[in-house]
Amino acid sequence: MPGIVIIGAQWGDEGKGKIVDHYARYADIVVRFNGGNNAGHTIVINGKKIILHLIPSGILYSRIKCVISEGVVVDPKVLLEEIAMLKSSGYFRDDKNLLLSRNAHVIMPYHKQIDILREEQKGAKKIGTTGRGIGPAYEDKVARCGITVRDLSDRERFKSKLSEIIQEKNKYIKQVLGGEPESFDKIFEEYADFGEKIGKYICDTQDFLYSASAKDKNIMFEAAQGVLLDVNFGTYPFVTSSHTLAASACIGSGVSTFFIKEVIAVTKAYTTRVGGGPFPTELTGSEGDMLRERGCEYGSTTGRPRRCGWLDAVLLRHVVRLNGVTGLAVTKLDVLNELRTLSICNAYKLNNREVKNAAASDVLDNPAPVYEKIAGWMNDISNTKKYNKLPPEAKRYLKRIEELTGAKVIFISTGPSRNNSIILRNPFK
Ligand code: GDP
Ligand code: IMO
Ligand code: MG
Repeated sequence: MPGIVIIGAQWGDEGKGKIVDHYARYADIVVRFNGGNNAGHTIVINGKKIILHLIPSGILYSRIKCVISEGVVVDPKVLLEEIAMLKSSGYFRDDKNLLLSRNAHVIMPYHKQIDILREEQKGAKKIGTTGRGIGPAYEDKVARCGITVRDLSDRERFKSKLSEIIQEKNKYIKQVLGGEPESFDKIFEEYADFGEKIGKYICDTQDFLYSASAKDKNIMFEAAQGVLLDVNFGTYPFVTSSHTLAASACIGSGVSTFFIKEVIAVTKAYTTRVGGGPFPTELTGSEGDMLRERGCEYGSTTGRPRRCGWLDAVLLRHVVRLNGVTGLAVTKLDVLNELRTLSICNAYKLNNREVKNAAASDVLDNPAPVYEKIAGWMNDISNTKKYNKLPPEAKRYLKRIEELTGAKVIFISTGPSRNNSIILRNPFK
């Protein structure tokens, strides 16, 4: 039975939450393997919106086990708040449905402070992070001075690790960033308590996933962010601090690479980006404002307005190749309903040459997009359930995406709800 990875094909917020929620009906387990609460994945059920930052989007099904694996950085306060929110909304009745890796790293208060102060210092050159402490937490992990979930759950070990690191962090915060030092006592008491509260979820998730894969369970891996924000392959330095590629599902959770059978990339029918960094197809005038308003393009985590632009098929093709994408889920097609003409970027003018293939890092050289125009459908497609019932122009747009990227469209989303969906192929079958 398959292991399926769902990735974001752009700069995040492609609608991964909705797609994972749809396929979760066929899954036994859903795993979050990267990022932290910089993510905000939205699911709309019966008109009610649920935004998940850390817990996998399978949690709304009572039979599914949800795993937060080694590759995630966990803010325990946010995790506990999310658990409380789900329980008060009538979901997540059985604590056994959530498994938290003992080796995941913990986001500490000093990580958040460092993230925010550094951004303030950078001024106009800031990355536009979510300010959730993600980068500094991953830095400590790689520098081998991070605090893991396992450390947090053992009072004595936590005390000793925190006392080792807090002095150095406070020196940096005060002398380099001009911030207020953090209090050891306050952090220790608050976080040791968090450690106790999350104790019932902590386990060896790698072993759990190994056993599940040996029993042929259906496992879905839910990426956070998008491939263009990957720390190796994104628009560096305007990226996040983790790996967002399909390959990181294995590194971030410990399953074998042989277990992954499908990679489904989620892309909007246009493009958005939140935060700083290059964006060749960005529309800064009234057309961009129109996409933002029609698409309700405001961040699910920070509420910031998202920058909007045309679909960039050059980068999408690159993402398809980089990840071995086996199917595309195209979301927010309905947002284009009323447009007479659409544009797709199919090449870049880069250093006086027209190029069809480019990597995300090429975008740092400010290429000019080369567009092709395509007729819009000027019709409301939100309630269309069958591909054949779509207007010919909408089919043409989708076909063109397939031609330009070399990947097949297997899912079309025409609205935020579960029933605004056109399903062409089920990767679990
Ligand atoms: P994620 O981070 O990739 O899960 O995406 P977000 O939840 O941050 O942002 C996607 C937004 O688009 C959410 O508000 C969704 O409810 C909404 N959405 C998803 N699919 C569609 C769609 O097909 N049409 C419209 N209009 N909204 C959608
Ligand atoms: P989901 O999973 C969109 C962006 C931030 C910033 C950059 C670095 O909902 O798609 P960070 O806080 O990670 O250090 O910020 O990455 N970013 C996202 N943009 N969706 C996300 O997640 C994002 N997670 C981080 O805006 O530009
Ligand atoms: Mg999001």
